[in-house]
Amino acid sequence: MALIEFPGEVPEAVAVGGAAYSMRWLVNGEIRTWSGEGMDVRSPILVGGQRHVLGQLPMVSAEAALEALAAAKAAWAHGRGPWPTMRTARRVGALEKFTDAMAAQREPVVRLLMWEIGKTRKDAETEFDRTVVYIRDTIEELKAFDRDGSRFKIEAGTLGQIRRSPLGVTLCMGPFNYPLNETFTTLIPALAMGNTVVAKLPRYGGMSTVPLFEAFRDAFPPGVVNIFQGDGATTIGPIMQSGDIDALAFIGSSRVANLLRRQHPHPNRMRCITGLEAKNPAIVLPDADLDVAIKECVSGALSFNGQRCTALKLLFVHESIAPVFTEKLAAAVSALKAGMPWTPGAQVTPLPEEGKPELLAKFVADAVAQGSRVLCGGEAEGTFFRPAVVYPVRPAARLYNEEQFGPIVPVTTFAADSEIDQFMQNSPYGQQVAIFGRDPKRMAGLIDAMANQVCRINLNTQCRRGPDTFPFTGRKDSAEGTLSVHDALRSFSIRTVVAAPTDAASKDLVQGIVTSRASNFLSTDYLF
Ligand code: G3H
Repeated sequence: MALIEFPGEVPEAVAVGGAAYSMRWLVNGEIRTWSGEGMDVRSPILVGGQRHVLGQLPMVSAEAALEALAAAKAAWAHGRGPWPTMRTARRVGALEKFTDAMAAQREPVVRLLMWEIGKTRKDAETEFDRTVVYIRDTIEELKAFDRDGSRFKIEAGTLGQIRRSPLGVTLCMGPFNYPLNETFTTLIPALAMGNTVVAKLPRYGGMSTVPLFEAFRDAFPPGVVNIFQGDGATTIGPIMQSGDIDALAFIGSSRVANLLRRQHPHPNRMRCITGLEAKNPAIVLPDADLDVAIKECVSGALSFNGQRCTALKLLFVHESIAPVFTEKLAAAVSALKAGMPWTPGAQVTPLPEEGKPELLAKFVADAVAQGSRVLCGGEAEGTFFRPAVVYPVRPAARLYNEEQFGPIVPVTTFAADSEIDQFMQNSPYGQQVAIFGRDPKRMAGLIDAMANQVCRINLNTQCRRGPDTFPFTGRKDSAEGTLSVHDALRSFSIRTVVAAPTDAASKDLVQGIVTSRASNFLSTDYLF
């Protein structure tokens, strides 16, 4: 019996007009059609046994990528361009115009997310809606930053106005798993602070941004936002080597992040904001509420087929409860419904990355070779991989140390809490942990052991990024910089101070500038 029934034909209610989004790129305020090499956008959904081709995205040349960079550089104009010098009120107006136009494109974007990366309709809608809310919250926070910057401080005989200024030309590269949300949670704050942007779309999921090109073109001055698709080495190498990138926003692997940084001739001039790998463990203590722990571990490890940087990627279960825990866990994982992204209630869907089911099968085989058993799942068919529970995973297995980024739940046991401490100390990652238990003293001990090793400790709940007002970051190879609605605006800006002595002549001068409204920067305009 097939693991999943692939559609014989495309249902009308989820059809995407991929041709309308094909071969387009956005440069210097123009939506252009690329006439050179393109790449097929191959859906993980097999129609007639083949990946359904949705359309093509351009594979722009190095020259075209450098044209996008030149447009962003010209719009920045050494910080003198209309966008970086614009009063915040007008920048807010542009962001609001963009958001309204974006909201009107919800359905095409949601359908593309379903087809391109196999995200369920519910999750695709959540990704879209959450991103719109994030932008609206960013606008409100930007106004608050502006209000703070409108004040003067007087300290030790010096008066000063301190405002946050943009950094310059920003390169944004988001990931395939949240192609919209994780790209926009850097791109939008970068724009909001007055930076200009070049964005390269992710290898999978990139077409879902194309329906928003008109909104970008119509809301922002030419050159402020430039977006293309292309081979990373061909396009990003020359952009980095130019030395013209002032800020890098990259969500992906630490290997590529390091490569990009090394290509910049003056890496010290480039601020890096990154979201990288993670191997977030769950720790299930003997007194944990097992129903809560199972529910949170299943969802934490397997929502969007485990393709989340925040996913639980290794479960440490106390040896005294491991038999009962693993039995319940395998039952819950086996009960997950497989289907197409639009199938009501589907929780397991096809995987977008080429070769991913085979890679996951290798992870499982390696663990089995090290003495693990597969308690459920693990079968691969086409682009589909039935979620596997693998137990007990030994420290020598790849699944113990490497990020699987897919639907495998590795379970290991521990006797003493110090073993968890040891795991985190040895791990190259430091994003989050989830602890399940009830004893305040024991939980407190683990919190204190983890507090300086990760950046978020979740109690009786799975690891996650939200709410988006909370700081999202990591240590070691997991992240650089902090993202939240508030922190992202800080990350993409730097404080600039206008300072003067407090003598009468200086006060008169500052007063004259402010009351004449001659400066966009030195201003007490108040934005509500
Ligand atoms: O892939 C990483 C995402 O930022 C995770 O976000 O925890 O809200 O799914 P999430």
